[in-house]
Amino acid sequence: MCGIMGYIGRKDGYPMVIDGLKKLEYRGYDSAGVAIMNGTLSLYKKQGKVNQLEQYIHNQKTNGNIALGHTRWATHGVPNDSNAHPHTSESGRIVMVHNGIIENYGALKSFLVTKGFTFQSDTDSEVLVQYIEWYQITYKLTLKEAVRRALGDVDGSYAIVVLDSLNPDSVIVAKQDNPLVLGIGVDEIYIASDASPISTYTQEVIYLQDGDCAQLFDDGTYTIFDLENNTVEPSITTVKCSNDNYSLEEYDSYMLKEIFQQPESVKACISPRIDLDNYEIVIPEIDNHKRIFANANKITIIGCGTSWHAGLIGEYLIESLADTCVEVEYASEFRYRSPIIRENDIVIAISQSGETADTLAALKLANEKGAFTYSLVNTEGSTIARHSDAVSYLSVGIEIGVASTKAFTAQVSLLTMIALKIARIKGTMETKEYKSIVSQLSELPTLIKKTLETNSMMHEVASCHYEKDHAMFLGRGANFPVALEGALKLKEISYIHAEGYPAAEMKHGPIALIDEKMPVFVVATNTSALSKMISNVQEIKSRKGQVIVLKEEGQDFPEEIADHIISIPQTHEVLSPILSSIPLQLYSYHAAKMRGCNVDQPRNLAKSVTVE
Ligand code: M6R
Repeated sequence: MCGIMGYIGRKDGYPMVIDGLKKLEYRGYDSAGVAIMNGTLSLYKKQGKVNQLEQYIHNQKTNGNIALGHTRWATHGVPNDSNAHPHTSESGRIVMVHNGIIENYGALKSFLVTKGFTFQSDTDSEVLVQYIEWYQITYKLTLKEAVRRALGDVDGSYAIVVLDSLNPDSVIVAKQDNPLVLGIGVDEIYIASDASPISTYTQEVIYLQDGDCAQLFDDGTYTIFDLENNTVEPSITTVKCSNDNYSLEEYDSYMLKEIFQQPESVKACISPRIDLDNYEIVIPEIDNHKRIFANANKITIIGCGTSWHAGLIGEYLIESLADTCVEVEYASEFRYRSPIIRENDIVIAISQSGETADTLAALKLANEKGAFTYSLVNTEGSTIARHSDAVSYLSVGIEIGVASTKAFTAQVSLLTMIALKIARIKGTMETKEYKSIVSQLSELPTLIKKTLETNSMMHEVASCHYEKDHAMFLGRGANFPVALEGALKLKEISYIHAEGYPAAEMKHGPIALIDEKMPVFVVATNTSALSKMISNVQEIKSRKGQVIVLKEEGQDFPEEIADHIISIPQTHEVLSPILSSIPLQLYSYHAAKMRGCNVDQPRNLAKSVTVE
């Protein structure tokens, strides 16, 4: 799971490649490297982030019309300089960047060792470039043939760019189960893991398909072929020029910026989909397939991490409003059972990036099983979007912070609209109730803005608890996934161990963890569960837990049993998870900052998890 950016043409490739790597850091940021061809090969690679590589290269020779860059998320071998890409072959002649996993690297490596090859790194990727050289030398092959033959022996996934430094008029690229996009310019070709770093330079792109290889020449011409050497006709897509805003503006981190963007990002997601004059929810992807949504036996929602949490909230909403059976599955588990998908089933894939490998694999399985697949993604043109029967975009703009915030509130907003839409089609809601929710939905951006006023309060709560190594989050109903999301946010950016539980489950085990050192966040904004939540808080207080209650303004809550009470604006119960998640985002941000953590790029993580 890594980012690849490459250039071949007439210009100096390095500036485009380093710029592209910065945009691809969401795919990994533990080491980075570039190879530049200018008569001879220059290779620079370094543990750390792309800007550290850039500083390292500063004042070195960077001109050259072929440049291959890589930003890494370690799978095989710790993050260090020698495991960083690009990797070179035994002779130093062939250089390669790789995203993916060569599953049979052990067997290939043992074979190469018997042939006298030595290894500089612990990576599976170095094995592949060496294996390509073995083919080249043994059978006196061109690079194209050596790559093709070597890949025929490989088990696993790859997106690769390979250069033979003794024949530097072309590069060979290949793709299997990892994305690779070609940007077709005038006398030049760009190569990247997604279209965003390319779209600044050209809008004509080719999304390579699994099994595709290509030879790209330095005059901008190219041929695409498969592993059997059959010619593949290129399919050119026009993408929009990216207008993503990478500026931090007045914020100290992308995470904080994205939290504070939520009034506008939720507005961008919901406004085009609400026709308030007629109280209609406008989702063409559902309107165009009305019969499928009206007659669905079951909807299965798949996703990972935060997107899975949004799916859990979607389950509450769709079941209660639209009377349709919903199951929510971890995408990573879905294909390792025998999921029952029948005719008339819908599978909804939720993914901010649209590139998560587990979600993509589950989606492909759903397609194979004949389900109608519908994806909710943020990144336009992403792989998951392209593999779905229908797609609705979140439209919240690029999310850069690894911790998902504005994508989550948009996912839940969109799921709320989907639930309302299906309910309308099936006639499962009273018109008065339906209109009331639609009207309050349109107020969400204003309510989110008010909810953000809890920021100073959450800072204060964080200053009381940031040194504690554990935290618990409790909720009932649709606030249970909010509790899970609160716990995930806290652990991923502050490294505090945190658990989310349905409040009533606490007494079945987790209550044993409660003592005076345990902050417990109680999400009690759903009035229908309030009295039960108050009892749960009493149980925590009796065991000396530190209680932080999140409630709605105007809700009657016995203040004396809580250590902190955070009040957020009142809204319809089905909309309250969107608001109640926001103070928890703020808490994680403040706790992580107080602990000196990098909130945008936490350790061991990547924004987009593109390996299974
Ligand atoms: O891009 P996706 O929504 O498919 O990503 C899924 C998860 O990897 C992601 O939500 C992850 O859990 C976030 N880091 C959570 O903040």
